[in-house]
Amino acid sequence: MNNKSFYIQTFGCQMNERDSETLAGMLRDLGYEENPVRNRADVIIINTCSVRDNADKRFFGTLGQLKRIKGDRPDLVVAVCGCMMQQQHIIDTLKSKYPWVDLVFGTHNLHEFPALLGNVLGEREKIVEVWDQAESIVEGLPSQRKHPYKAYVNIMYGCNNFCTYCIVPYTRGRERSRNPEAILQEVKELVKDGVREITLLGQNVNSYRGQSQEENQGDAAGEYTSFAALIHKLNDVEGLERIRFMTSHPKDLSDELIDAYGTCKKLCPHIHLPVQSGSTEILTKMNRKYTKEDYLALVERLRDTVPDIAITTDIIVGFPGETEDDFEETLDLVRKVGFDSAFTFLYSIRKGTPAEKYTEQVPEDVKHERFNRLVDMVNRISAEKNSALVGQVTEVLTEGKSKTNPALFAGRTGGHKLVNFTANQDVTGQMVKVLITDSTTFSLTGEAL
Ligand code: 5AD
Ligand code: SF4
Repeated sequence: MNNKSFYIQTFGCQMNERDSETLAGMLRDLGYEENPVRNRADVIIINTCSVRDNADKRFFGTLGQLKRIKGDRPDLVVAVCGCMMQQQHIIDTLKSKYPWVDLVFGTHNLHEFPALLGNVLGEREKIVEVWDQAESIVEGLPSQRKHPYKAYVNIMYGCNNFCTYCIVPYTRGRERSRNPEAILQEVKELVKDGVREITLLGQNVNSYRGQSQEENQGDAAGEYTSFAALIHKLNDVEGLERIRFMTSHPKDLSDELIDAYGTCKKLCPHIHLPVQSGSTEILTKMNRKYTKEDYLALVERLRDTVPDIAITTDIIVGFPGETEDDFEETLDLVRKVGFDSAFTFLYSIRKGTPAEKYTEQVPEDVKHERFNRLVDMVNRISAEKNSALVGQVTEVLTEGKSKTNPALFAGRTGGHKLVNFTANQDVTGQMVKVLITDSTTFSLTGEAL
């Protein structure tokens, strides 16, 4: 490799993955090439996540590995960014224990990265530049996208919900929505480049409130574009095949959005709707602002509109004060909803959140025992849901060769299920009809028709 090269290691959610695409675009514009081998790159960036303790631990483990490489190659630039950098105690730890880190920046000043890197290289000095608060959204940043046929599109940043376990409102700041014109323009350009499916990203997309550019300049009391209205606009984009979104909050799931599933044919029959717990008492302690019954009623309304909608969720096990009865409520809800799949997490104490101070922490062994019971149930239901699809024909967006068997192609159904399938010709990037012939807990097998 002749050019200078970079490597970005990303922890955490789709927001971070999207930010890493922006960083990669900035580096490409500076003349850097992506290096598949981390330890040979000239610039290594670690984009961090702070949502749970294990992400913190993996970050410090990775930094430990970089010490030796920096020792061998002092010209290497080690940069760290992302959610962890928005916490003062992390910055203090980095300063005192990890002197081989050259550049620290945060989630709110990502756009400053090229200038900060220039200063590090020019002055050969260490820089820590983290903003406490976001300024207005910076549009027009470059990106080097990971996937050719599907793309993440940010529609809003930040979160105002302050669930008591969650660090995100402190690391990503208050809710800010992009204006609808900027989103539409980005999507149209993506489609021109061959993208078929977009996933709209936000911590809580249901509270999207887009103000149009024209209104920003003139009428201050202008109208807002709701999330459902945004989906309607995107549904009209020619050449776009699929629209998805992540993540929505049950308390804000509007009738207007549920109706959009019926009217917007590009909106995929899938919703990721984090429930967190099935116990209303625990939900109250989590500050989620809905009950178990509210959630079940939402599921019913969704299924009334789209009978075969795939529903996935996030569940936290062992939130402070969770009793065996509370946990049984979670199992009961999982059984009643029949989730297609679920991300399950052990509760992890986050510094600075209200739940950190809650006294009734659940012992580790109890948490693990409940976690295993929950995972067993979730997996059993996933396997049942997948096996019910055998014999059906479903549309798949082909992403490329299967990772497990290069003789097969792989893609996802509208319900976001992974399908590995045979085809007579290269169907990469195409929407194909696939007959499902077999299933496991986590994927489907089929034949392109
Ligand atoms: N402990 C465990 N899981 C958490 N999540 C967020 N904060 C915590 C925490 N402190 C989970 C929630 C959220 C997902 C992204 O991460 O389930 O929906
Ligand atoms: Fe965290 Fe709750 Fe905001 Fe999701 S809605 S990012 S869980 S505070």
